[in-house]
Amino acid sequence: MSVLIKGGRVITAADDYLGDIFVEDERVTLIGESLDVEADRVIDADAKYVLPGCVDPHTHLDMPFGGTVTADDFESGHAAAAAGGTTCHVDFVIQSPGSSFGAALEAWHAKREGKALIDNGFHMAVTDLKEGGSLEELASLPDQGVTSYKLFMAYKGALMVDDETLFKTMEVAAETGALVMVHAENGDAIDVLVKQALAAGHTEPKYHALTRPPETEGEATNRAIQLARVAGAPLYVVHVSCKEALEPIALAREKGWNVHGETCTQYFFIDYTYLEQPDFEGAKYVYTPPPRDKANQEHLWSAVRTDVLSAISTDHCAFRWDGQKTAGRDDFSKIPNGGPGLENRLHMIHHFGAREGRISLNRMVELLATNPAKLFGLYPRKGTIAVGSDADLVIFDPEARHTITASGQHSRSDYNLYEGTEVVGTPELVLRRGEVVWENGEVAARPGSGQFVARARFGEVLAPALRV
Ligand code: URP
Ligand code: ZN
Ligand code: ZN
Repeated sequence: MSVLIKGGRVITAADDYLGDIFVEDERVTLIGESLDVEADRVIDADAKYVLPGCVDPHTHLDMPFGGTVTADDFESGHAAAAAGGTTCHVDFVIQSPGSSFGAALEAWHAKREGKALIDNGFHMAVTDLKEGGSLEELASLPDQGVTSYKLFMAYKGALMVDDETLFKTMEVAAETGALVMVHAENGDAIDVLVKQALAAGHTEPKYHALTRPPETEGEATNRAIQLARVAGAPLYVVHVSCKEALEPIALAREKGWNVHGETCTQYFFIDYTYLEQPDFEGAKYVYTPPPRDKANQEHLWSAVRTDVLSAISTDHCAFRWDGQKTAGRDDFSKIPNGGPGLENRLHMIHHFGAREGRISLNRMVELLATNPAKLFGLYPRKGTIAVGSDADLVIFDPEARHTITASGQHSRSDYNLYEGTEVVGTPELVLRRGEVVWENGEVAARPGSGQFVARARFGEVLAPALRV
């Protein structure tokens, strides 16, 4: 199958030009002006942007968490992703305490089998180095294309690890070339605050934020940075939400340390007051770190503009309000933590970021596609438009209006964080390795056609697949 995309405005992290793109055997094979080639399908991209397929480095599909399982599996989650212009993501495999990493990885491969519509890689969330996975097994994961280790410094009694496990994992990463990712919050202090709040009869959703003050995120971020320095490991701080966490990252980067960070779409738009919505509606915004005071939003825009933060992910961890979030009606600590977002990252960041002049279009592509691909060993197969790269392409109509609603979304969640928001600009057609996965408002991909991507180690490139 060959595809010729004609006359689009091709926008990458570095370039912006009018041109034609020819796709053959899943890859871009020719880029030029007025290409004179035959193709099975010709797509007129006049007045459209042609963007690299977006890469989401932080998602939780089909994941047991908070006493339930996330609402989207690899089929519904991928449908949401494709509709939103995301063609590749990296999802979290969770090691069950007492079990090996191999068993966890096998379980997650089975979850995507026969369902995947887009491509994905896996991070390994390390929860137990004492009775479960060994350091040797952890060191072997990069050979299987799993080149990032995730550690939760919060969720005491569930996913949280102690500093010994965190530091030993960092030492292994320094040896194997894996990237260490941290959920940075002080889980011990938060646990004390949660128990005190409940003992005082404070059960409403807003106490989720009031028991996780920004200082607990700042402290853990700084601790992870300093420990990664000692271990000599590269560090990536996930879902940065506030000034207190931005400051140590900015300082580390100023000093040239190997420290990177992301924020997520929701932190630019949802603030603490959403948690105060009546009738338990606030539970929709219970994710971690929590929505912060509005003043943080400007700090986050500034951080993505100035490269203090390198990526914007979704942390898509969808639950239904009705039946899942409601488990915490009488106790905020029982509300499953997480929110949906895979479908609307490009919509929101294009409209409020690029269109409203907060970031350039090139920077938008860099934050949503190129940097996630580079940091997580997917570049240049993913995250850019170049000869030899996978033909993951978004034909984006920058003038089409789209209203974001739960009723029109592909996620199985029954709400949307941005309900009713009208954006200008939406993906019109999306190709994943040259195959149409989204067109005319419909998901077009075949379940099972998405591939697992074995990623390169941190700082190494993922060579384009060789043509055989
Ligand atoms: O609330 C969130 N963010 N849920 C997903 C798990 C995590 O902490 O990333
Ligand atoms: Zn987290
Ligand atoms: Zn997450």
